[in-house]
Amino acid sequence: MALLGNQFGYWDRVAREKVFTHPLNEKVLTQLIDRKARLLDYGCGYGRTCDDLVRLGYADVTGVDTSAKMIQRGNRLFPHLNLKTLDLPDDGMLPFESEAFDGVLLFAVLTCIPEDGDQRCLIDEIRRILRPAGLLYVSDYWLQTDDRNVRRYRQFTERFGRYGIFELPEGTVVRHHRREHVTTLLRRFEILDLVDMEVVTMNGNCSNGFQYFGRKAS
Ligand SMILES: C[S@@+](CC[C@H](N)C(=O)[O-])C[C@H]1O[C@@H](n2cnc3c(N)ncnc32)[C@H](O)[C@@H]1O
Repeated sequence: MALLGNQFGYWDRVAREKVFTHPLNEKVLTQLIDRKARLLDYGCGYGRTCDDLVRLGYADVTGVDTSAKMIQRGNRLFPHLNLKTLDLPDDGMLPFESEAFDGVLLFAVLTCIPEDGDQRCLIDEIRRILRPAGLLYVSDYWLQTDDRNVRRYRQFTERFGRYGIFELPEGTVVRHHRREHVTTLLRRFEILDLVDMEVVTMNGNCSNGFQYFGRKAS
């Protein structure tokens, strides 16, 4: 929780300048969930993925983010969208009814939540707010193998107690994920698809990432 608590100010500080690029896999998404679905884009940033969803014909799309400044940018760019600042209570419970959504997107958000326990809390909450057999669509980063990343994973292993968690020079802590970690974290979902991809990070580096589609299992 300590790490997570330090992060929120960072996203407000960079809200005007960062560009996010994890792509929406329209083909897979539209096969898995119909246009009437109630969709939540959790950690929506400035709302670019919500905009993609609405353009695709999804009619009921909500985006939430803990950064008020990201949401302000989103509301300026895309005034037609339903984007809201999320006040995350101390107990981590999301302010939504159980089974309120048919699908939840989590794009480049796990990477911002470095600790296992915090990631588990979030995934448990997403399970709660998804209807039975609801869709979870995660886009995030694998552990990288290039020298630059390996160096920084090693540099921060002792401080954060885990290989793959590291601090960016600009002062936020992020995580890259082992495959086994993702499988364990999402074990209460039935995996539908897992696609490897290359993606450009918010700092302009090419990285190995993945897109996961899963159904809430009972
Ligand atoms: C890398 S950005 C990705 C934004 C968006 N999903 C996209 O792909 O365009 C991560 C976003 O997650 C938000 N965030 C970080 N921790 C969060 C949390 N615990 N709950 C909700 N949002 C969070 C940040 O404010 C930031 O806007």
